[in-house]
Amino acid sequence: MSAPPIQLLIFGATGDLTLRKLMPALTRLAEKGLPDQGFHVVGVSRAERTHDQYRAELREALPEKQQAAFDAIAARVTYLSADVMQLDHMQRLSEHLDALPGGKASTRIFYLSLAPSLFTPAVTHLAQAGLVEMAENAAEGKRRVVVEKPFGTDLASARALNAELHEHLHEKQIYRIDHYLGKETVQNLLGFRFHNAIFEPLWNRNHIELVQITVAEPLGMERGRGAYYDQSGAVRDMLQNHMLQILALIAMEPPPSLQADAVRGEKVDVLEALHIPDLTDVKHGVVRARYTAGEIDGQPVPAYLREEGVSPQSSTETYVAVRAEIDTWRWAGVPFFLRHGKRLPTKFTEVQVQFRTPPLSLFNRPPGISRPEFRRMLKDHRLGRKPPNVLTLSIQPREAISLSFGVKRPGADMEMAAAKLSFDYDEVFGEESAPAYERLLLDAMEGDATLFLRADEIEACWRFADAIRSAWESDDPPPILSYPAGSWGPAAADALFHGCEGSWSTGNET
Ligand code: BG6
Repeated sequence: MSAPPIQLLIFGATGDLTLRKLMPALTRLAEKGLPDQGFHVVGVSRAERTHDQYRAELREALPEKQQAAFDAIAARVTYLSADVMQLDHMQRLSEHLDALPGGKASTRIFYLSLAPSLFTPAVTHLAQAGLVEMAENAAEGKRRVVVEKPFGTDLASARALNAELHEHLHEKQIYRIDHYLGKETVQNLLGFRFHNAIFEPLWNRNHIELVQITVAEPLGMERGRGAYYDQSGAVRDMLQNHMLQILALIAMEPPPSLQADAVRGEKVDVLEALHIPDLTDVKHGVVRARYTAGEIDGQPVPAYLREEGVSPQSSTETYVAVRAEIDTWRWAGVPFFLRHGKRLPTKFTEVQVQFRTPPLSLFNRPPGISRPEFRRMLKDHRLGRKPPNVLTLSIQPREAISLSFGVKRPGADMEMAAAKLSFDYDEVFGEESAPAYERLLLDAMEGDATLFLRADEIEACWRFADAIRSAWESDDPPPILSYPAGSWGPAAADALFHGCEGSWSTGNET
């Protein structure tokens, strides 16, 4: 007998995430016939809607090219007006689910696209209504809960939330989302590192000078995000989660297998080895800033403090640059530069791994300069920097990898010029990568938690983020700098590269 269809419940069914991300992803999955046993969607929210009104709302929000595909699955979407704070509403939900094909025998995924303050009451009421029972093996078990970000606002709140969820759910039933892990090119960081043996011998402090990770966005506080963002800021909104996830994939040890806990265990180990900065470290190794008025794509945009929903007294940062260190034998002494900002000139997410330069410089002796003089000039850094080998992994919008190296320029002189090996996903595979939520929803339905965050992983990330924020909240805080919207951020961030030959990328390498 074939397995009953999966029941996917979305709490926050009329919200932005459901309309813009989840439904397009579910429609694509349905078109591909995934997962094998099929699925039903139940939208749950407090608003009153009939099933048909809800379907029409979803259809309307989809890109036009997906609307016909949605029509084919519309009958598999139902709606229930219910409040997660009301136990009797969850009991009504239980009846609704039992009446759908597969009933109690279905695998049920409860997707909490809710305000974070509702995560615990929702899970408590689901448990009290008998909708989720603890199961140690969630892959075989049938009740899973997907929790959206933000997962806590600091280490203490994340720990408390973990403890509250663990009262009703086994850790293996909890799927904490970080949508960056659903991105094809982020997953490729694992594939690239652990499938290609040529890089592994070089992947350490002996050969790598520095690593930099940039997530740049021209976006500001559009779509009414100001009020949320002002309570959050660049460290909580991006660094603590997406950027540390990328760092973990770049820096982790090879996992013994691709089992969820094997991969996540290695990530936790490296995240726990991040050096936790104190006030002095933060003063020297972290730059925070906020945008002032400027231009994006030729259009004037307001200063952060003038954005809707933002307090004029706000001290929230919209930009952060960090020089981080990882205290392991592999990485001791290698700086990891992390930078994120809103209202930067272009959108790009990229990792650059910069290799050390050769110990002796033989080439590019300027004409008329003797060998001893050339040697002195090199020692005094009078000749500018030798371009190092750089491996650039572009995550978005361009999905590409390049490796820069030097070649001899044709001619009588031994002069080296810069060259590049490059690979572009689009050119090679010619197909658009699946949106992040498509992969994550499918994995949750199939019970694969590899790309979801474990409790200890979230806590390790908060420990690092909290250290930065507590220095900022101390009695002697480093200043918050400013940068005009449309610029690359404050010049002070360049000084983080002191002592190493490098500078911030502007995303043009691949
Ligand atoms: C979200 C942040 O998690 O990620 C946003 O809350 C940010 O502030 C967004 O804009 C970036 O995601 P992406 O996929 O567009 O890089």
